[in-house]
Amino acid sequence: MAPKLPIYLDNAATTRCDPRVVEAMLPYFSEKFGNAASRNHKFGWEAEDGVELAREQAAALIGANPKEIIFTSGSTESNNLAIKGAAEMYAKAPAGQTGRGHIITAVHEHKAVLDPCKRLQREGFDVTFLEPGADGIITAEMVAGAMRPDTILVTIMWANNEIGTINEIPQIGRLCHEREVILHTDATQWVGKMPTDVERDCVDLMSWSGHKMYGPKGVGALFVRRRKPRVRLEAIIDGGGHERGMRSGTLNVTGIVGFGKACELCKEHMEQERDRLVKLRRKLETELSRRIEVTQVNGHADKRLPHICNISFGFVEGESLMMGVKDIACSSGSACTSASLEPSYVLKSLGVGDELAHSSLRLSLGRWTTEEEIDFAIEQVVKAVEHLRTMSPLYDLHKEGIDISKIQWQAH
Ligand SMILES: Cc1ncc(COP(=O)(O)O)c(C=O)c1O
Repeated sequence: MAPKLPIYLDNAATTRCDPRVVEAMLPYFSEKFGNAASRNHKFGWEAEDGVELAREQAAALIGANPKEIIFTSGSTESNNLAIKGAAEMYAKAPAGQTGRGHIITAVHEHKAVLDPCKRLQREGFDVTFLEPGADGIITAEMVAGAMRPDTILVTIMWANNEIGTINEIPQIGRLCHEREVILHTDATQWVGKMPTDVERDCVDLMSWSGHKMYGPKGVGALFVRRRKPRVRLEAIIDGGGHERGMRSGTLNVTGIVGFGKACELCKEHMEQERDRLVKLRRKLETELSRRIEVTQVNGHADKRLPHICNISFGFVEGESLMMGVKDIACSSGSACTSASLEPSYVLKSLGVGDELAHSSLRLSLGRWTTEEEIDFAIEQVVKAVEHLRTMSPLYDLHKEGIDISKIQWQAH
């Protein structure tokens, strides 16, 4: 059966809310509308019960204690709280001075990590931005090589949102615990897709988000380790002292209930969901690489998430490629910044050239992706690339066996 168009292959951007999540949330809009901080009546107690169940569901998904879960508005806020909160708490010099401490991150992190780190840099902290190899992975060895006696925080994502590659978080966690340095990981794309155990993997702070795992938008969590070591954070939002003083503001009870349910469903279905998505993604990558020459799958071949495929096609122009696959909702290797189209900084950090970065697609699969949709996507991409190449003089030269990179172009 032909799939309904357009097909959705942008699950790394956001996911559809699972109907079971919506069902769990509905009563909290209407009859259970209380404020979870109202201690004196049934409405408040009901709301609090919903929040505490969600805290248990979130903790169970990552091997944590419910007391270690702080609810936020999503990963951007969790990252800000973790990074700025830890830096300020463990700073080695007062605000306004230099030499406040050293932080390690990587150049291809999400902006929700890079921008807080850059702000801290302006505020007197030293920041090392590690560069990945061509496979996109940050290893424990790279982190060890950057450590200094004044290092206070390492923030490395568990898996990358554009290329899906998985960093060496368990090894980095052990290293950080040995050196008594705090490890934060942005696990937005990882949690819910892969088994997670913060205790075993020595993670101290971990961010994740509802809308990347079939939950609602505008709600997320930060795991904050309570023992061995007890991690403390300086709050970035001051107010009524909710969430153990770390995140003031009336709790988004409805969203939190949905977030908890989404965590529970991910835990329940993770194994079979992972196997199914790996099979579909492999089919996508194998068929596209087999049927289209000069194709490159970006990032490490195996150490990658089940649902993210990032692939570049030589001899096609990026914007025309996106136009050619308009029945597929997906992301491109170009980021729109103000008026210009910049090639993705993540792909550039792997050494992918500007041309190939522009002509890359991120196709990300999810709970409702079917094999028919993958087959349709393969046909659409093959057709679009073949069509665009009929108009490419460079592709003609390539077919004649001429090495394009060696051509000396002349300006007239
Ligand atoms: C790795 C990563 N970190 C952070 C974010 C931001 O998450 P949120 O939309 O929950 O603020 C995203 C989402 O784009 C992401 O993929």
